Amino acid sequence: MTTVLEARGIGMTFRNGDEQTQVLQDVDLTLDPGELAALTGASGSGKSTLLSIVGLLLRPTAGTLTIAGERVEALSDAQRDLFRNQRLGFIFQFHHLLPDFTATENVAFPAAAPTGGISPAMRQRARDLLGRVGLGDRMDFPATRLSGGQKQRVAIARALMNHPDLVLADEPTGSLDRVAAGQVLDLMAEMNREDGTTFLICTHDEQVAARCARRISLKDGQVEAGAGGGLAGPMRRRAGPVPPGRQ
Ligand SMILES: Nc1ncnc2c1ncn2[C@@H]1O[C@H](COP(=O)(O)OP(=O)(O)O)[C@@H](O)[C@H]1O
Ligand SMILES: [Mg+2]
Repeated sequence: MTTVLEARGIGMTFRNGDEQTQVLQDVDLTLDPGELAALTGASGSGKSTLLSIVGLLLRPTAGTLTIAGERVEALSDAQRDLFRNQRLGFIFQFHHLLPDFTATENVAFPAAAPTGGISPAMRQRARDLLGRVGLGDRMDFPATRLSGGQKQRVAIARALMNHPDLVLADEPTGSLDRVAAGQVLDLMAEMNREDGTTFLICTHDEQVAARCARRISLKDGQVEAGAGGGLAGPMRRRAGPVPPGRQ
């Protein structure tokens, strides 16, 4: 089985003039296909920085990164852009939808951007995904006319448009109320279960972390001992069979 992600010895030091800030130090992280993993840690612990590195939005100052079997540090900027577009999906705290475009056009965007147009097949896939996230009746709505929770569901569909190997989510429920957050969480878990898409979700929300089969915890720029390795067990969403006479 090829790992989806293998990060080894990742370090990140930001330099501003004479000042240096070491944010990550010797981080190892492996994700297998189909994992649903939470990346937790206090604010400022380096979650977003690590996610940006894995998402090829930021180059680490140390370490190696293999994504879907490919060593990525040798790639040029243009190759990184292409790799990111084809192999990775992103969900941010704020949806970043294009306001003047419809839900369908926003979902199709990752496929359409390199070619410059939405083909009928792309449109169909975008509409199928919108149906799966419960927005079958909002496909032609402009993004501005959707609620916060609906926008984030569009963002989930968009992240899946190109059949990514890995979806990276940074505080995906951070700007939603509890109900909308629960729906967004349900959808990510459902996509993980049904399609086997691997998810790495940065969060400081216990509700989110508790729903993930695995938790990776960052502290002082390092993966906390015991947190980076084994699975925390299968997701337990439903109660087991109800014993007779106990309905
Ligand atoms: N471009 C940058 N220059 C200097 N320091 C940065 C930069 N980006 C992030 N940091 C610092 O890195 C630390 C981790 O930030 P971040 O990864 O956003 O943490 P988290 O997502 O866990 O809240 C913070 O102390 C932050 O100030
Ligand atoms: Mg963050």
